Amino acid sequence: MCGIFGYKGMKNSFSVVFNGLKDLEYRGYDSWGIASLIDGEIKVVKKTGKIGEDFDEESVKSSISIGHTRWSTHGIPSDKNAHPHFSCDKKIAVVHNGIIENHDEIRARLKGHKFKSDTDTEVIAHLIEEYMKKYDYKEAVVKALGELEGSFALMILNSEREEIIAVRRGSPLVLGVKKEEFFLASDILALLRHTKEIIFVEDDEMVIFNSGFKMINFVSGEVIDRKPEVMDIDFNESDKGAFSHFMLKEIYEQPKAIEKTISGVNGNGVVFQIPEKVLSRLNRVVIVACGTSWHAGLVGEYWIERFAGIPVEVEYASEFRYRKPIIDENVLLVAISQSGETADTLAAVKEAKDKGAFIFSICNVFGSTLTRVSDLVVYTRAGAEIGVASTKAFTTQLSVLYLLSLFFGEKKKVLTGSEVEKRKEFLKKVPVQIAEILKNEKKVREIAENYYLDKNALYLGRGLNFPIALEGALKLKEVSYIHAEGYPAAEMKHGPIALIDKDMPVVFIAAKDKTYEKVMANIEEVKSRKGKVIALASEGDSIVAGKVDHVLYIPTADHFILPFLTVIPLQLLAYYIADLRGCEIDKPRNLAKSVTVE
Ligand code: AGP
Repeated sequence: MCGIFGYKGMKNSFSVVFNGLKDLEYRGYDSWGIASLIDGEIKVVKKTGKIGEDFDEESVKSSISIGHTRWSTHGIPSDKNAHPHFSCDKKIAVVHNGIIENHDEIRARLKGHKFKSDTDTEVIAHLIEEYMKKYDYKEAVVKALGELEGSFALMILNSEREEIIAVRRGSPLVLGVKKEEFFLASDILALLRHTKEIIFVEDDEMVIFNSGFKMINFVSGEVIDRKPEVMDIDFNESDKGAFSHFMLKEIYEQPKAIEKTISGVNGNGVVFQIPEKVLSRLNRVVIVACGTSWHAGLVGEYWIERFAGIPVEVEYASEFRYRKPIIDENVLLVAISQSGETADTLAAVKEAKDKGAFIFSICNVFGSTLTRVSDLVVYTRAGAEIGVASTKAFTTQLSVLYLLSLFFGEKKKVLTGSEVEKRKEFLKKVPVQIAEILKNEKKVREIAENYYLDKNALYLGRGLNFPIALEGALKLKEVSYIHAEGYPAAEMKHGPIALIDKDMPVVFIAAKDKTYEKVMANIEEVKSRKGKVIALASEGDSIVAGKVDHVLYIPTADHFILPFLTVIPLQLLAYYIADLRGCEIDKPRNLAKSVTVE
């Protein structure tokens, strides 16, 4: 994880990097640091906590700086472990995103070097220093890189040179160019406020910028002549507006985000650009994703199997490549990721691509790594999602998956053209239905007041609503730190029922669908053991109201559309419970928006 930012130019580099790190804070926010070159010396500022708390960005003046915002992997969040890390002589400073897997081995070998932190990164600065005893600086850097195992995007500052060296292997790195100014960052979003001229640095590439910039492949030595691409994306400074948190704002943005996503897909027909030869041999869809995106994949599985009769497997991206998956060119691999930078998802995609699968990705961030390694990308048009807990990314991912499943359904002749049209009409109504649900916000807040001091919660649903139970539980865990589990409702009797007592709130998704009667029986089972029940029910269902402690109604809708609707009250419930507990909702402890380490 972590975000890195570097700048050389006529502006105050410290201030540019300081603000660049704020744009990258979604990648980690437990500590930060900046190294600036001033009169042949490297000055460093390191702080535990979020960027900029109690710090004057103009207090340091320099034309060249590198910085880092951290999500701890090796070593607790502290000033000592915050990057940049230095060589013994303080001449080499390094910031790093990724993990150096053989750091213990290197550390043990570097006899005589004094290490100041518990991080894996620090070995890089010492290793360069060691090689500089025999080689010139650039050669020493290349030699050191040759020893590193794992993934890295690095920026290196040398107190004796007005330059930054940056390299990439496995972790993202993007270069922004502007007249006499050079910017380096972990993603393009952090560069767009400065320039739209972007160069994506690829694995094993090194960028050196001093008076100009030069790129080489640090393994082969080959010079790279890559022109900047002009990115036609606007920098949208996100603010919370009238909302107290981004999470709440983003929950409310869902109707618009879904509308935009649907018209993006229909408008340019991207879903339909899967090559005929891929479609004709397709015999299996494999979906890879993590966290909330994985939950979207589970819903997609139901839709694709049901509408198109194509077998689907949904895999945790992090598990996928460690069990030798059976993948060939007859597989369509669907990768789902809000950020497009999740390391586990990228690793799974690489594995599938190497085995010949066609890579179809659903992503929210333009120009992200996932979009550049995929054969076809469909963008969700959710806009920047700032809250660490994913909300609008989820429902826009569902929108694309729903349309994709209808597309397959028609192609495979399981659905007729008119059935597809009818189902698309159901989807078009979703934004209005979500807006209706959001009007019940007050009721959700009242329910939250009854449960915010609890320590546990169970979320139960069946069929299409089982992934929504998982998602509801994940939302609660992430933002409120209450332990919550999602289960298929019918599984409760196989174990979790032992947990039920008067202190266990159970959230049932009991909307009217084919499993309704069975779910009602599960509700009875919980009530007869004194559990507290909050039910999500279809508008007008008065029976459920008589059986449970609280009901939240959702508009009646086609069974296949329900996941779009049932997830909304659960997002709100997690939000209000966390708010009442005084949690830091947009940046929950220990988390980062984008998980860029495996
Ligand atoms: C969701 O609320 C989480 N913060 C997390 O599970 C997230 O969905 C997961 O890390 C995947 O991220 P991605 O969609 O950017 O790949």
